[in-house]
Amino acid sequence: MDAALWIKVVLAQFVAAGSVALALKAGLLTGIGTTTPALAGLDGLLALGLSWAWRLPVWWRWIQGGFVPALAAAAAGLHAPPWVWLAGFALLWLVFRGAPGGRVPLYLSNSTTWDALAGLLPKKRAFALVDLGCGLGGGLARLARRFPNGVFQGVESAPLPCLWAWLRARGRANLRIRWGDLWSEDLGRYDVVYAFLSPEPMPELWLKARREMRTGSLLVSNSFEVPGWVPDHVLTLDDGRRTRLLIWRM
Ligand SMILES: C[S@@+](CC[C@H](N)C(=O)[O-])C[C@H]1O[C@@H](n2cnc3c(N)ncnc32)[C@H](O)[C@@H]1O
Repeated sequence: MDAALWIKVVLAQFVAAGSVALALKAGLLTGIGTTTPALAGLDGLLALGLSWAWRLPVWWRWIQGGFVPALAAAAAGLHAPPWVWLAGFALLWLVFRGAPGGRVPLYLSNSTTWDALAGLLPKKRAFALVDLGCGLGGGLARLARRFPNGVFQGVESAPLPCLWAWLRARGRANLRIRWGDLWSEDLGRYDVVYAFLSPEPMPELWLKARREMRTGSLLVSNSFEVPGWVPDHVLTLDDGRRTRLLIWRM
């Protein structure tokens, strides 16, 4: 994550918490109640609003809004029965399965990115594209609607996002979602390989791409570089985080 984003994330939390504390001290909150849940909820709303106003990526807005309420809930839940903690842990695993081992958590490409990717795809000719770690599958569904001449494949290892993506793909003949490991996907079957992962797997992904991808096919990495391998083309997008699409023609 770039420094400007970090600064906005931290600042939004401080401004929200500071505003609630000041309002409490000034006695302005008697109307809405001064219990911990009410204060935490207000803090969350402020952080969400600030993150929205400062145009943080969409998933960050929700993380920001939920952060203090979640802390308050966790503190209240210290006396909760063990199964509640177990259920919370299971939920985290179901959603963020890819984070601990592969160092690739769930965060989503924005609509500007999917539009830019669409600009790289053939308008009439048949082609196949894979999204390695497709998350919730929203971007793929959008492309599949727009390009009936394309076949789209998503691979996702985290169970809940994969289920979500699979449900989204139902009834769409040119979109398939597979629950599994991206490392077992044969990249030789695709004209375009899209990956929005993290710095960690990029060297290994590059080796796999060089081994398997066909001559002339495209590897597109959202944001993350391959150390030592300059991309053939870089698209810098006009979105809040100045997303860079790094493109290699194999
Ligand atoms: C940063 S998200 C990108 C989601 C989507 N491609 C997008 O651009 O919106 C990366 C996704 O890769 C998944 N992932 C991580 N390691 C994986 C693996 N070995 N096999 C399949 N999916 C994996 C994560 O669960 C996460 O959903």
